[in-house]
Amino acid sequence: MIAERVKSLKPSPTLAVSARANELKAKGIDIVSFGAGEPDIDTPDFVKDACIKALKDGKTKYTPSSGIMPLREALCKKLEQENNIKYEPSEIVVSSGAKMILFLIFMAILNEGDEVIIPSPYWVTYPEQVLLFGGKPVFLEPSPHKNFELTPELLESAISPKTKAIIINSPSNPTGAVISPKNMEKISEICLKHNIFIISDECYEHFLYEDAIMLSPASIDKEVRNITFTVNAFSKTFSMTGWRVGYLACPKDYAKIISDLNSQSVSNVTSFAQWGALEALNNPKSKDFIKSMKTIFGKRRSYLMDILDEKGISYSKPKGAFYMFMDLTKYRDKFKDDISMSSYILEKGNVALVPGSAFGKEFWARLSYCVSEDVLQKGVSRLSEALMNL
Ligand SMILES: Cc1ncc(COP(=O)(O)O)c(C=O)c1O
Repeated sequence: MIAERVKSLKPSPTLAVSARANELKAKGIDIVSFGAGEPDIDTPDFVKDACIKALKDGKTKYTPSSGIMPLREALCKKLEQENNIKYEPSEIVVSSGAKMILFLIFMAILNEGDEVIIPSPYWVTYPEQVLLFGGKPVFLEPSPHKNFELTPELLESAISPKTKAIIINSPSNPTGAVISPKNMEKISEICLKHNIFIISDECYEHFLYEDAIMLSPASIDKEVRNITFTVNAFSKTFSMTGWRVGYLACPKDYAKIISDLNSQSVSNVTSFAQWGALEALNNPKSKDFIKSMKTIFGKRRSYLMDILDEKGISYSKPKGAFYMFMDLTKYRDKFKDDISMSSYILEKGNVALVPGSAFGKEFWARLSYCVSEDVLQKGVSRLSEALMNL
């Protein structure tokens, strides 16, 4: 018999949609895939070359569990220069993607029944990981009319004596919501007052549009820094999703425990992948790479908003990331649930979207604009036609 702990675990719904879309593609059906949560741009060559060099130079053995020292040093420099937070290498842990970092954080801090506040819609993995470690997800519902931005008032209303942590994901997957610096400061003040950890998932930090500004909570002041786990990865920023390199910055005592947990589970991130990641941080060409990716996504976002407006499909205006969260609630009476709605859109319209229920918001749907403008045009036309045929 499998353990009680894992009985309610749900597989990742985003991967399930991609799998079904791939099945249809394998049958020769032309599917427009809006499901993937990863840039459609290749990892920069200079990163690949550094990894190949490391491999050829024999950097193929175990590394320190929390990551090779040059990488941790470079991460400290990055965090200071880009996020305005000072960390020591002993406060950095490198693990297998931001996903594993989050897993280790929950393992390290949660006791049975501890509550973790999760603003909804949320990235699919958060509640599952919290539940795995005996925690209780407490969902907050920021208003869609304010583009799902978490407000301090809403946070205050959800705090109980059992609240252990809040997960902040700004810019957000799936909504692209970005918390304003003013609200971030107030949210941090509330967390300090109630002694709540802040888990700040900053994976989309570089994907910001219009006037959006992303403030890392740990940069606010020393006290906030002491209650914050700053989580990030190379996955989205450098288009390195398959490399599995993520990192955590937090006060030394927690970093030590989390590094120990890492050493008893993954041991270390693949040695040569770490050398590739180091190059991504150090090579001056990275700035241009990130800038050009941001320009591409910014253009697609504007283009997509134009065509959705034209077709009368509602959405929450994203300020960051590379997702469009569409409001399809007006079609809810046509389906028993939103999974059947997504299946209809996939089977009849040949468009793959992730159903909103995966993110805690039924009858919404996430479109990832990690595709060319032509594909966006084709997919939205098909989507609109499928919806009009209802
Ligand atoms: C909000 C968020 N956090 C973390 C991750 C996982 O990142 P990684 O691939 O580095 O594990 C994702 C990936 O989709 C994400 O959207």
